[in-house]
Amino acid sequence: MLDTLNTLEATALDELELANTSQAIANWNWKYFGSKRSKGAVDDAMRQLGTLPGEERKAFGKRANEVKQALTAAFVAREHLVKQADLEAQMSAGSLDVTLPGKPVSRGRLHPSSQNLRRISNVFAQMGFEVYRSPDVETDEMNFGLLNIAPEHPARDMWDTFYTNTPGVILRTHTSPGQIRSMREFGHGGTKPIRMILPGMCYRYEQVTARSEMQFNQVEGIAVGKNITLADLKGAMSEFARRMFGGNGKIRFRSSYFPFTEPSVEVDVFLGLDSERNKMLTKGTGWLEISGAGMIHPTVLRNGGYDPAVWSGFAFGMGPERVAMRLHGINDIRSFWSNDLRFLEQF
Ligand code: PHE
Repeated sequence: MLDTLNTLEATALDELELANTSQAIANWNWKYFGSKRSKGAVDDAMRQLGTLPGEERKAFGKRANEVKQALTAAFVAREHLVKQADLEAQMSAGSLDVTLPGKPVSRGRLHPSSQNLRRISNVFAQMGFEVYRSPDVETDEMNFGLLNIAPEHPARDMWDTFYTNTPGVILRTHTSPGQIRSMREFGHGGTKPIRMILPGMCYRYEQVTARSEMQFNQVEGIAVGKNITLADLKGAMSEFARRMFGGNGKIRFRSSYFPFTEPSVEVDVFLGLDSERNKMLTKGTGWLEISGAGMIHPTVLRNGGYDPAVWSGFAFGMGPERVAMRLHGINDIRSFWSNDLRFLEQF
């Protein structure tokens, strides 16, 4: 009986020796070990086990297992060999040209708005401003009330508001509520000076046009201390302009109105007209408007926990997308949030 097994083993090994393509190897495997649907020769031989008397059965079973293991091992070794040979044949036949350029993998990158915010944040961080974030979803009280804008105040018309289903909860229309939050969180009850910027998204219930989006970023800046004056605001703005845009950092204030600053200004930086880029950036005026700003209103200082008789401060609210639009010649603000790769991939 054991002869059957010995013959099976010998034949199988001989045949395996001759199989030198992947296909031949697979056929061999199928013949001896079968597939899910049909049994192979090894299984067929095993089946005889049941017909044998006790003593013989033991010896047969042992030998059958040996054969099975030997064939499996031989198969694995042979398969490896043949695959290797296949690969070498392919390579020397030149079907695999390793010098061909690969498919380009498109790289992810920061959104142009984020890149721009990081540049602005870096400049202010170098000037000693901490970077802080405050929430996009705000209370009416933070966004308006504590900023000296009473419920019926006509100045509310300056900010068209998205309301939520929860009374008193809105999407912030500017980053200025961050003034209150940073004074309260970092002013130690109105005893310590602060200097921070708060970049983030703002929302306005406005008609979307090429010039105005219903969402956009602002960078709020706030500095509170003793003896802070309008000259410090001017100094901070011109130093920012110098570091961000180069040049001499000349700026100008135009008088303006905000309920939470007094006096209030709008800030233009001087870029001049001596390059095509600057002509475009400033629409031929030499001046680029970058920010609303002013000295923090005493009421707002008080709401932040400071005594306005002792403390003073300045604040500004910058429009980074405006700056980016000018810098890159982007003429439609909707490009920023339309997620068009043709736009995004340019940065
Ligand atoms: N929050 C103002 C706006 O959105 C800008 C501003 C900020 C003005 C800080 C003065 C001080 O228009």
